Amino acid sequence: MRISDRIDEIRAIIRRARSTGSSIGLVPTMGALHEGHLSLVRKARHAGDFVVISIFVNPTQFSAGEDLQRYPRQPHDDAALVEQVGGDLIFAPTVEEMYPNGFCTHIEVERLTDTLCGPMRPGHFRGVATVVAKLLNIVTPDHAYFGEKDYQQLIVIERMVRDLNMPVEVVSCPTVRESDGLAMSSRNRMLTREQRQAAPAIYRALQAGAAAVHRGATAPEAEQIMTELLQAQPHLRLQYAQAVHPYTLQEPTHAGPPMLLSVAAFAGDTRLIDNIVVFRE
Ligand code: PAF
Repeated sequence: MRISDRIDEIRAIIRRARSTGSSIGLVPTMGALHEGHLSLVRKARHAGDFVVISIFVNPTQFSAGEDLQRYPRQPHDDAALVEQVGGDLIFAPTVEEMYPNGFCTHIEVERLTDTLCGPMRPGHFRGVATVVAKLLNIVTPDHAYFGEKDYQQLIVIERMVRDLNMPVEVVSCPTVRESDGLAMSSRNRMLTREQRQAAPAIYRALQAGAAAVHRGATAPEAEQIMTELLQAQPHLRLQYAQAVHPYTLQEPTHAGPPMLLSVAAFAGDTRLIDNIVVFRE
């Protein structure tokens, strides 16, 4: 397994891998790897890809006052985990390598970023879309793997790839959960004991919302069920509990499935998100 922080080196390694007939798979991450990330690496391996894991805490997707400084960084543990699951190459660039002096080009995905996390985190998806476009241009993967926990991010990236004719297949991968249902996230390690105990209520609320949608509930009804459950949690501060159409991310025009249920809540200063897509049975 190789590690490089240089774009020219990454390009040379990938050129060599491709010349041996390998397809290239990219797993973009911000590090502090957990089982969710590793499941993406395994999926890429299973597809036969030469697997590149990018590790870059991207400053442009954090707004002022968010947790950029506090975001967990553990490069040695990450490298050991990638090695264990059979990743081939880690790309861990510096901020200067990704955003050299004079950088001034950004990608804006409209409409899909007007809802859910978009208004709560101004500039976030512009930062995500731009860095992912850069990573796709640098690594030139055949497949890029993203988790469904960050469902809105996944939809935004799929849209960008389609709209800009990027020659890559976006592969969406199911959310990996702890045994109590909490969606795995690098931010979980910032939780105190009380916050960690409270956090699975997010998934329970989503499940209660999903059960109601299966019974034919409307979006406002599902939102009310999730909101009431989460507002009753002393260690969580609900930011939103929303039910939207899973493809447009706008208010659904129908009751019942398909519906995306989406929650963002703070546990102290740590922002947690989770999603469930409710399909027709
Ligand atoms: O999901 C993440 O970890 C990040 O948003 C991503 C896709 C690596 C872009 O920085």
